[in-house]
Amino acid sequence: MDILFRFVGAAICLMSASSAALAAGDDAQAASIKRGAYIAIASDCSACHTAPGGKPFAGGLPIVSPVGTIYSTNITPSATAGIGQYSEEQFARAVRRGIRGDGANLYPAMPYTSYNVLTDADIHDLYTYFQHGVEPVDAMPTRTALPFPMNVRLSMMAWNLLFVGSGDNLTDTTQSAEWNRGKYLVDGPAHCSTCHTPRGFLMQELTGSYLGGAQVGPWYAPNITSDATSGIGSWSKDELARYLSTGSLPGKAQAAGSMGEAVEHSFSQLTQEDIAAIATYIKTVPPLHDASDEQSRFDYGKPFSELASLRGTNPIRSDTDAQASGAVLFYGNCASCHQPLGQGSKDTYYPSLFHNSATGSANRDNLIATILNGVNRTTPNGQAFMPGFGGKANDINALDDGQVATLANYVIEHYGRPGAPVTPADVAEVRAGGPSSSLLLLARIGIAVAAAVGLAIILLLIVWRQRRARMA
Ligand code: HEC
Ligand code: HEC
Ligand code: HEC
Repeated sequence: MDILFRFVGAAICLMSASSAALAAGDDAQAASIKRGAYIAIASDCSACHTAPGGKPFAGGLPIVSPVGTIYSTNITPSATAGIGQYSEEQFARAVRRGIRGDGANLYPAMPYTSYNVLTDADIHDLYTYFQHGVEPVDAMPTRTALPFPMNVRLSMMAWNLLFVGSGDNLTDTTQSAEWNRGKYLVDGPAHCSTCHTPRGFLMQELTGSYLGGAQVGPWYAPNITSDATSGIGSWSKDELARYLSTGSLPGKAQAAGSMGEAVEHSFSQLTQEDIAAIATYIKTVPPLHDASDEQSRFDYGKPFSELASLRGTNPIRSDTDAQASGAVLFYGNCASCHQPLGQGSKDTYYPSLFHNSATGSANRDNLIATILNGVNRTTPNGQAFMPGFGGKANDINALDDGQVATLANYVIEHYGRPGAPVTPADVAEVRAGGPSSSLLLLARIGIAVAAAVGLAIILLLIVWRQRRARMA
């Protein structure tokens, strides 16, 4: 009897110990999922892996690249359509080295070139989150089918050998812990350089021009180095932190396009400590100066109004009058929000058009893209909304390429950085998604050259063998 009691007692003890261990395991997993969810936000995985209106992380977002459209894949834990069968090691290789579970190379539209510095601990938490914290979706997104030779995924191997870093995340002991955290976030999860660093001939980031400004589709991600004239050296750390967490810094800049999205989905949801760390690090990025910049892009322009001279003489209209002057277009379409002097609203909800990086930049793309696409960004601070005027042909608000050029020139002449005017062709290019690249052509020429060299070698070999045969 006594023995039976002891046995039962021991069994109960064992059971409660193992359920305590299980509970502890659950707690550890829950904590890991939570940390992983945060890293997924800091890394903005959903920016590419969630299609508009689609299920979270189910993929299918078309990413237009210079060599064709690449579709993001399903990274939910579905065993059939997603990454449910990935081991942690396979997951780590995909995220840090761009190698898919089946061993094929991913295209660098997936920013593994940045994620390659992610620590083992962060990868582990991300993996736990994607396996246990995300709803599985069993639908296969559209498959990517790039034209030859880009459809040969093996060709990425050479690219990776040339351009993917070691992945070492070296702590700089001469800098503070905050600075090191900032550098890690900027170069790793937040992948700022994938947009702000210009790319070379083979689409690789030009490390010598780190954060020096680059084209991202129709938008231009400006120079954000510490240069006081060409970069953001004139911003205080707090100003940069405010811009990153809200997308708006009155009197300097607003975030639209892909930056607006990054602010909405990622930066506005980071802790104040992490945003401060990013700002601390960015403020120390070596300056890159463009000799043509005599003045900072945040300092151009001043209040100006032509409204008085228009009153009574010209009807102010916003329709598609092909002859409309810049002034007429401006007062018909823009001044109601940005105000007659271009000074914006008192509460700064409508920004001033002078002292504004979109009008003060030598690169006109952000001004053109804003007029065509507008601004739509939601953060915990509220929504920033400006309608786009690109529209469809029968949209009464739609402005054609010539009108957008006339309007943009009016805005830069009076509120921005004067200089080379915007042409209708510039507007057409932004409307079409930005400058196209000759990469595909180059790759094709490359293959043709390789084939020609190969053929020449074979011919030489044949000639050489015939000669030897004759000599023998
Ligand atoms: C800038 C866009 C972008 C971001 C941000 C991004 N990805 Fe991707 N990812 C892609 C694209 C595009 C592919 C497919 C590439 C291909 O087919 O070669 C991909 C593929 C993958 C794959 C391979 C899946 C498979 O088997 O096909 C994994 C895993 C993955 N991403 C995980 C992540 C994680 C985790 C994050 C965030 C830490 C992330 N991605 C952020 C664009 C992105
Ligand atoms: C997906 C591409 C993308 C990523 C990632 C990105 N940016 Fe940007 N960034 C842009 C674009 C495009 C603009 C211009 C936006 C506009 O004018 O509306 C911009 C604008 C900015 C500006 C304002 C500069 C000015 O003159 O107006 C700052 C500052 C900035 N980004 C910092 C960062 C930092 C820091 C990171 C990483 C933590 C980052 N960005 C990540 C695309 C990106
Ligand atoms: C309905 C109100 C409204 C109208 C009309 C309007 N805007 Fe805006 N505009 C805004 C708002 C709101 C923002 C974004 C503020 C923010 O990001 O916090 C903005 C931002 C901008 C920016 C800065 C964009 C950037 O990314 O840096 C420019 C430049 C601009 N507008 C020019 C124009 C021009 C030119 C017109 C006329 C074609 C116009 N706006 C019409 C409300 C408006």
